[in-house]
Amino acid sequence: MVDTDAFIPEATKEIADAVGENDNAIIALSGGVDSSVAAALAYRAIGDRLTPVYVDTGLMRKGETKGIRETFAFMDSLRIVDAQDRFLDALEGVTDPEEKRHVIGESFIREFEREAREANADHLVQGTIYPDRIESEGNIKSHHNVGGLPDVVDFEGIVEPVRDLYKDEVREVARALDLEAVVSERMPFPGPGLAVRIIGEVTEEKLGVAREACHVVEEEVEAHDPWQAFAAVIGKATGVKGDNRVHGWIVSVRSVESRDGMTARAQELPWETLQRIQSRITGENENVARVVYDVTHKPPATIEYE
Ligand code: XMP
Repeated sequence: MVDTDAFIPEATKEIADAVGENDNAIIALSGGVDSSVAAALAYRAIGDRLTPVYVDTGLMRKGETKGIRETFAFMDSLRIVDAQDRFLDALEGVTDPEEKRHVIGESFIREFEREAREANADHLVQGTIYPDRIESEGNIKSHHNVGGLPDVVDFEGIVEPVRDLYKDEVREVARALDLEAVVSERMPFPGPGLAVRIIGEVTEEKLGVAREACHVVEEEVEAHDPWQAFAAVIGKATGVKGDNRVHGWIVSVRSVESRDGMTARAQELPWETLQRIQSRITGENENVARVVYDVTHKPPATIEYE
């Protein structure tokens, strides 16, 4: 529980003090609740001296860019950067999971650096939350939205207004700020996007399969209130479509319960729900041969696949 009546003015003041009266700040918006709340707080603090930047990496969820445009329409300074081709080019031939994260992080920094220069931003606002900091300190994975950026872009200061909050507390703040439910209640989504839901090389075809399948899973599982529910493209297998044997994609469906993402339990979903998901995914995409359900907890598995 967080006392939002006290937290919101305190965080707003902290940002205003850190940025000062004449300087500018920039924030990378991901579409997730953490950066959305940090951006809304910063916008309260410094108005249009904040440039919120949303980089469309091409690795985003279905409808994400449109959603951002609508949710943050009240921010005149919002910048939407179409970087899909640059990210896909950089990812060509990359199969190693850590290298994939690294390439995405680097590509992101390059986009962001340019935007920061254009916005004349000397301060960086980040939506880092408490579990991000713990995982980064322990180096559990290279977290592309923590660390990295400040070393490369020469900011005078970094402000992390939600750094001590857990995800459920960030959601409370989001509701108190009247952010739309699509933001406040949205499932977490990893910084490297659909790339960590694709095993091996990221291609446009696999991205298309992952994006549509994730959308189906989110829709079908939402009522069961998971921490996160999604689909991943994990390989190829033989199937039968019509009279033909085909070699199609294997889509793994994952739905987990968790408080902070650090540990998680695979969710027990009704068989009818799983079957509906299977039937929609294979029905909507003729190149999917098989749908499986992941029953592994974290640990030993991670939530995402790479
Ligand atoms: P894992 O897969 O490590 O994920 O069990 C734990 C939680 O973190 C999210 N995740 C990320 N979030 N940048 C992020 O902002 C990342 O690089 C990243 N990798 C994983 C994941 O979706 C889950 O909620």
